[in-house]
Amino acid sequence: MKRSSVKELLHSDKFLQEVHVKGWVRTFRSNRFIALNDGSTINNIQCVVDFENTEEELLKRITTSAAVSITGTLTESQGKGQSVEITVTKLEILGDSNPDEYPIQPKKHSLEFLRENAHLRIRTNTFSAVMRVRSALSFGVHKYFQENGFNYVNTPIITGSDAEGAGEMFHVSNFDTNKAPLNEAGEIDYTQDFFGKETNLTVSGQLEAETYAMALGKVYTFGPTFRAENSNTTRHLAEFWMIEPEVAFNDLDANMDLSEDFIKSVLGYVLENCKDDLAFLDNRLTQEEKTKPQAERSEMGLIEKLNFVANNNFKRVSYTEAFEILRNCKPNKKKKFQFPITEWGVDLQSEHERYLVEKHFKCPVILFDYPATIKAFYMRLNDDGKTVRAMDVLFPGIGEMVGGSQREERLDVLKAKMADLNIDEEELWWYLDTRKFGTAVHSGFGLGFERLVLFTTGMSNIRDVIPFPRTPQNAEF
Ligand code: 4AD
Ligand code: MG
Repeated sequence: MKRSSVKELLHSDKFLQEVHVKGWVRTFRSNRFIALNDGSTINNIQCVVDFENTEEELLKRITTSAAVSITGTLTESQGKGQSVEITVTKLEILGDSNPDEYPIQPKKHSLEFLRENAHLRIRTNTFSAVMRVRSALSFGVHKYFQENGFNYVNTPIITGSDAEGAGEMFHVSNFDTNKAPLNEAGEIDYTQDFFGKETNLTVSGQLEAETYAMALGKVYTFGPTFRAENSNTTRHLAEFWMIEPEVAFNDLDANMDLSEDFIKSVLGYVLENCKDDLAFLDNRLTQEEKTKPQAERSEMGLIEKLNFVANNNFKRVSYTEAFEILRNCKPNKKKKFQFPITEWGVDLQSEHERYLVEKHFKCPVILFDYPATIKAFYMRLNDDGKTVRAMDVLFPGIGEMVGGSQREERLDVLKAKMADLNIDEEELWWYLDTRKFGTAVHSGFGLGFERLVLFTTGMSNIRDVIPFPRTPQNAEF
């Protein structure tokens, strides 16, 4: 008999018909009611067992997380809170789960405990909801770009270049670390390594994506990205997924428009397609907010917040304007910031970004025209000679969601900048070629996918929105 998903059955009105379903037991109460889940939806279907006519031995094996196969009759439910249930006629245990050993009990566990059991935490409502939303978000990302004429490009994961110039990279080598050959200077001789040169895991696909934008016009990447920065925060991962659109002939204004339209569209997609999961996560967040002091509680519920962002304009502010707001704000004057705002040109820390979005503007903010000294080499220099056409999209509760820029398309200016920063022209010869052969204004940005998932699900730690997080001192699973 054809197997139905729990989701299909919960929306079905084929009462009194025989149905077949497989899944895992969430709870079993009164020796009678199985709450069955198969991952197709946050909701369980109730399966009612005729316990008087079922062997005791079999009943004992219906434990939390046991895999079961059920055949029965779809019935209109008598109980509150559900419309259909299955009156079980045949039950088979596919895989037992010993309740004395199974770590995830049907009670509230801490997120820390669940992180240690990342292979099982997906069996909880919270994580299954988060990961279904994550999946829908990634579909929404592809949908947006594919419907808007972008080509999906897969840029290399192993790379010889350091796109961000930050040097926070993981080395890739197949040398035996104890026996790496040395050159005459006594340094490791990478010419003998697999690729004949020093290579790393990529921190961004941007530079390669730029070369593709110079032929395909509109491109985007969506792939894994690696950073060996030792930031043990709730916003950083060592391995995360980044989305990087790059568009020929777009200037910074068009780039800001794209980032805003893109984010709103993707949020709109999940609001439309993940209603049950978002309702669950909304409620979860409300419960969690109640445990916080009044002053720290969010003014909006999750769904309300997502609708707000999807339907209101982001505020666009130059770095210089933001700097003035921050310099004159109360927390700065009262020396409440860990990093005081004094001189124009300082890099903004997350406390400053969050002040701007959460306290001052109370909406997503796009900061642009940053001081050249705090941004990457490839950003286009403004006529003032000291700011670059950079943009960061800042989100409430998250801080930086997007980092992007209009790229420096003038060969001489780019070369001068690289010389200033000691970036070897020979290493980036292919990147410089794009400026020699038909150079054009172009722009793009990178959005950290997990930060988007974090915002959309209302979770508070980035480790809880990727299946198996990679962070300093942690690569279990
Ligand atoms: O601002 P970033 O470093 O920009 C770039 O890499 C550019 N090459 C992007 C481009 O213009 N094509 O990183 C982009 C975004 C950040 O805004 C943030 O959302 C995310 O990537 N991000 C991280 N997310 C999780 N963990 C980390 N360690 C992250 N570092 C950056
Ligand atoms: Mg950035």
